[in-house]
Amino acid sequence: MSRAVEAPDTQPIDRARALLRGAHHVVVLTGAGVSAESGVPTFRGAGGLWRQYRAEDLATPHAFARDARLVWEWYGWRRTIVSGCAPNAAHHALAAAALSHADFRIITQNVDGLHARAAREPRAIPLELHGSLYRTRCTRCAHRWDDRSTVDATSGDTLPHCDACGALARPDIVWFGEALDDAVLGEAMTLAANADACLVVGTSALVHPAAGLADLTRRNGGSVVEVNVEDTPLTGSATVVLRGTAATIVPDLLAS
Ligand code: OAD
Repeated sequence: MSRAVEAPDTQPIDRARALLRGAHHVVVLTGAGVSAESGVPTFRGAGGLWRQYRAEDLATPHAFARDARLVWEWYGWRRTIVSGCAPNAAHHALAAAALSHADFRIITQNVDGLHARAAREPRAIPLELHGSLYRTRCTRCAHRWDDRSTVDATSGDTLPHCDACGALARPDIVWFGEALDDAVLGEAMTLAANADACLVVGTSALVHPAAGLADLTRRNGGSVVEVNVEDTPLTGSATVVLRGTAATIVPDLLAS
């Protein structure tokens, strides 16, 4: 990767553009902030879901074991909200960059499917670290399936059940206290470790192991560009920090 010699008055966005253009391998890590301007609520910060709801009541295996109906109701509600949202300019710019660069991969913590909806080809589809609102899986057997249906959580009987074995099904989402899928995490770590540049967009960088991916890039000699409306634990060690919203900054940053 080449680091451009910069004039003292170079703007951060120009520095970030030069880093990304000079990188052979780019990895992008996104969080809820990339979808905020699409109308999808974030988790932390003003209006965040974890300000209104307790994660331990809704997003843990224990919560599901205690009250599967409540958990399904919440995920059904989120599925409905997200179904009414569309990818924004940041999702589109990232998808376009993934198609026009040979090695530009998107990794997301989001379960909203908006990156995939912006993708016109498979290589713009992100690696989904935390699963998907639109996938359901069996609690007993290995069956998992795409699921865009409206959740009926009126009773235990109306909840989604497995077509293969009949057992209760659950959202295919990584809950607090659960491990990420080994293959997905392994691929994400390899991409991050090999990247010359990691572009981090709209994550509070508080949830591991996702939050550690940018450090992996940095420790292996790559650069980190952070786009966020506020400071995060990554800000201090980022090579360039771009302060502002994803839908404003990302298209400008990636414009060819
Ligand atoms: P958070 O809600 O923790 O953080 C969202 C980040 O986006 C914050 O740093 C905001 O400052 C920033 N932000 C908000 N609006 C923005 C905008 N328009 N443009 C750019 N940045 C903006 O969301 P995540 O970091 O994604 O886990 O949270 C990580 C995980 O915690 C999620 O994947 C979720 C949650 O519990 C699961 O669902 C398993």
